[in-house]
Amino acid sequence: MKLITIDGPSASGKGTVSQLVAKALGWEVLDSGALYRISAYAVQRDGIALEDEQAVAAVVSHLAIQFKDGKVWVDGAAVDDILRQESTGKLASKIAAYPALRQALFERQRAFLTDAGLVADGRDMGTVIFPEAPLKIFLIADVRERANRRYKQLLDKGLDADFEAILADLQRRDEQDMNRAVAPLKPADDAVLIDSSHMGIQEVVDSILREWEKKSH
Ligand code: CDP
Ligand code: CDP
Repeated sequence: MKLITIDGPSASGKGTVSQLVAKALGWEVLDSGALYRISAYAVQRDGIALEDEQAVAAVVSHLAIQFKDGKVWVDGAAVDDILRQESTGKLASKIAAYPALRQALFERQRAFLTDAGLVADGRDMGTVIFPEAPLKIFLIADVRERANRRYKQLLDKGLDADFEAILADLQRRDEQDMNRAVAPLKPADDAVLIDSSHMGIQEVVDSILREWEKKSH
């Protein structure tokens, strides 16, 4: 089965590394965080009360979501800029604690698995969505290093950035993701742990490709 899961906390490099691993293998990518961010976007767009778990979950079932031309489209609108905002990430993390929402997204995520091969990026890819994956990676990095990566991403885009505020946001979101009752952020029992605190992107990609080589021989 051509399937690799990459889970880990925010800014550990999952998205970047998933794209590169998929490119090297000629596989597809599932950015599951985008689905939670899209849900957060739709909840705001439709003025849904945050505490209404069933209404939050129901919003997702009607959304037309497309990943095309390198952009994310929801009901015909390109929403990338909104999805990337930290306020959307925070809201996503809040509603991601709802079992009904996680259930509503379950099949949508499973549907990404085809014969073409898949790198699945998220928090519960190896533990809940694809427990059968032959290779599960848990990617971590020191929290200050992760905050620094986000800080640099903002500066590179010419935006204002406050390192301490980014650090506080990351810590709060990690804590929320690790401590929720349903599908918390944690390594699968059979996950391979990679600490990228002192590793370059290509080094991480190469070590995952080596792990895959080992599995496929
Ligand atoms: O998807 P996730 O939130 O885990 O992280 P990301 O957005 O892919 O990566 C955050 C930033 O860290 C990006 O700017 C990467 O270029 C950088 N980075 C990395 O991904 N891996 C390293 N080993 C070093 C830096
Ligand atoms: O890019 P970053 O790592 O900061 O976040 P993301 O992967 O876009 O995910 C945003 C939020 O969605 C996370 O903080 C999680 O609460 C939630 N999420 C989740 O619960 N399960 C997943 N498989 C992916 C994301």
